[in-house]
Amino acid sequence: MKTYDAIVIGSGPGGYVCAIRLGQLKQKTLCIEKEEVGGVCLNWGCIPSKALINAAHTYEKAHTSMATMGIKLGSVEHDPNAMQDWKEGIVKRLTGGVRGLLKSNGADLLAGTATLVSPNRVEVKKADGSVETIEATKGIVLATGSTTIEIPSFKFDGKQIIGAKEAVSLREVPKRLLVIGGGVIGLELGMVYQAFGAELVVVEAMPTLLTGVDQDCVKVVERRIQKRGGKVYKNAKAMGYEKQADGSVAVKLDVEGKPETVVTDVVLVAVGMRPNSRGIGLENVGVNIDKRGFVPADEFGRTNVPTIYSIGDLSGPPMLAHKASKEGEIIAEVIAGHKAAKDWACIPGAIFTDPEIATAGLTAEEAQAKGIEVSVGKFPFAALGKAMAMMETDGFVKVVTDKKTKQVLGVHIVGPEASTMISEGALALEMAAFAEDIALTIHPHPTLGEAFMEAAAHAMGAAVHIVNR
Ligand code: NAI
Repeated sequence: MKTYDAIVIGSGPGGYVCAIRLGQLKQKTLCIEKEEVGGVCLNWGCIPSKALINAAHTYEKAHTSMATMGIKLGSVEHDPNAMQDWKEGIVKRLTGGVRGLLKSNGADLLAGTATLVSPNRVEVKKADGSVETIEATKGIVLATGSTTIEIPSFKFDGKQIIGAKEAVSLREVPKRLLVIGGGVIGLELGMVYQAFGAELVVVEAMPTLLTGVDQDCVKVVERRIQKRGGKVYKNAKAMGYEKQADGSVAVKLDVEGKPETVVTDVVLVAVGMRPNSRGIGLENVGVNIDKRGFVPADEFGRTNVPTIYSIGDLSGPPMLAHKASKEGEIIAEVIAGHKAAKDWACIPGAIFTDPEIATAGLTAEEAQAKGIEVSVGKFPFAALGKAMAMMETDGFVKVVTDKKTKQVLGVHIVGPEASTMISEGALALEMAAFAEDIALTIHPHPTLGEAFMEAAAHAMGAAVHIVNR
């Protein structure tokens, strides 16, 4: 029987990072994958969607702002086939890169489906039908990720009723697109196809879009959807659909108790993901699964069975690639016997809508609910030279501080490059920074980052380029 120090099941951004780090730490490591290396993130999630989002943003700019900037492009067209080929090229390069990194760090990769058979053994079923039992002396890391949730009345057909996987692979832009779920995927991908001309309808069950995200930020995105002609239904449920004679789909909605019908061409169901905790043999070894299907882990990534670790989407929310990767790194160090544990001040979030939303730490409402009095600084991109020069002035940076101490509690950004800018907010939270630390840090001019400096100054009543109220 083959024996390794560690076995990692799954090669998404949690699993492959863990295996690479284990290799770097000179642990004999095996990573087992049943599909493509890279998981959802690289193959049909984060990376493919960002390629399309960037293409949509460029197309949108070519249409809206370039002429004003003095750049005349003539006719601007989009070619979904070329875009898909380009996107697939990026995916290939990245997944190939991951294979190369595993190899050069000494981690073996095995194609097959792994099942736990004991606290230190897995059984792997390979494509040729053969089965192999492999042992891990130090630990088995479960990094099996999550799967798209399907609604029974909207069974995926791959063409007109689709999930995110199909939505990043469309070789034709639908004339009309209805998105069920006004969450991250629904809004990111909905806005891509809206930018390419689709009439967008968003159906959200809750009273707000992007529940849990700073609602001032969300409103900016919602206004953009509506400005482009999109319709947003809130407190609304999609009940079912009927195919029409002309090939379209009539979706029946319940909007605050009233029935409505929306005719569309494609329905994207984006109502969340569920952890892949079934079918991997957890019951064989007594690993606990919680009510929502997650496999909880302690600060060292250990499940209730000490040799079995759980990371990424499987271990609990937030279901974010960067959280999975950091857990992967840390758990590799734990297995290698280093002093390491999950210990972070915040997990930032980045939502690639147009404009982007990015957050770190507490919202003002969350801080108040904890009994903290807050002082909030806000700086609009409309007052920033760089944003004007980019013709992207919608949005703001908001810094939430403790009113007494002015320690930074949260940073919320909606606007251009919010996803890039939030790293500074996350660093501020990790370093337990005060508004003054940020305001006194010289930010180069002219940059979008100045908005963060000004928002921090505003929390102290000392912004320079807006009136302090
Ligand atoms: P989500 O949890 O972000 O949003 C799902 C939305 O659907 C919620 O607003 C929910 O209220 C709504 N909903 C649920 N059932 C419904 C129904 N029957 N009718 C209407 N609305 C309904 O889930 P989503 O967008 O599918 O994303 C899945 C996961 O992937 C999330 O955990 C997210 O964090 C992650 N993700 C993160 C990205 C990022 O960080 N940029 C990008 C894409 C996904």
